[in-house]
Amino acid sequence: MALINRTILITGGNSGIGRALAEALQAQGNRIIVTGRKTDSLNAVLAANPGMVGYRLDVMDPAVLTDFPARVIADHPDLDTIILNAGIMETEDYTAAPVALDVAHRTIATNVTAPIELAAALLPHLQTRPQAALFTVSSGLAFVPKAGNPVYSASKAAIHSWTQSLRHQLRDTSVRVHEIVPPLVATELTPGQSQVAAAMPLDAFTQEVVTILSQTVIPDEVLVDRVNFQRRAEADGRFAAAFATINA
Ligand SMILES: NC(=O)c1ccc[n+]([C@@H]2O[C@H](COP(=O)([O-])OP(=O)(O)OC[C@H]3O[C@@H](n4cnc5c(N)ncnc54)[C@H](OP(=O)(O)O)[C@@H]3O)[C@@H](O)[C@H]2O)c1
Repeated sequence: MALINRTILITGGNSGIGRALAEALQAQGNRIIVTGRKTDSLNAVLAANPGMVGYRLDVMDPAVLTDFPARVIADHPDLDTIILNAGIMETEDYTAAPVALDVAHRTIATNVTAPIELAAALLPHLQTRPQAALFTVSSGLAFVPKAGNPVYSASKAAIHSWTQSLRHQLRDTSVRVHEIVPPLVATELTPGQSQVAAAMPLDAFTQEVVTILSQTVIPDEVLVDRVNFQRRAEADGRFAAAFATINA
């Protein structure tokens, strides 16, 4: 069902893709709850968007992750849609000695463990709603990895696989499960990325996603045209060429 007249929680809604989706989905007539780690940008989003509600949430903090779901459900019993968007992307060098594992640990905690734990805590409530949806946010790099970001790419491949299983398990419930698969988009996910010419402009990406989310039947995977270069690479027999392009 199209995302209209929903109560939508968006993690990482204080910047980049999360903020853009929050604003666009509010303009479509949805009630929006955003979370963010940085207080300044969270307050800025709320100030710019009257009616939007926000919570400070650091998904690396286990205590916060445990307390937050009950709090948001108590405050917003009509919550029926979650977009698990918060994520980080950092580089790693496995030719170094020793290999620093701090990036791997925080990437897995942020991009994999946190969405799984939030989903697990919120799904019992979502299943009480007549129409509900859970969106994960993976990446084109789930399908063709970027070698400089091995655990990031693997974390998104893990989210893709997990989303498929979740969708199957929940098929007879009121919760529809979708995966948003962004290509390279002009945000500050990595320093300077918003200025990279090859990145898809954030406005264009958001507009294409919101058009898909406005369809009567939202597809399992929310794919803008540009991401098919990666999403369809293996199926089209182009994986080696796509890998070479991404890792040139
Ligand atoms: N931009 C791209 O090219 C691209 C491509 C494919 C997939 N994606 C995915 O899209 C999602 C959004 O990324 P973006 O491009 O919009 O980058 P972004 O502007 O850096 O946004 C990332 C968001 O995640 C939040 N976050 C990170 N660590 C957190 C933590 N420990 N606790 C709570 N929130 C945390 C950030 O909050 P703070 O700002 O408060 O730290 C921020 O709101 C990510 O999952 C990313 O992997 C992006």
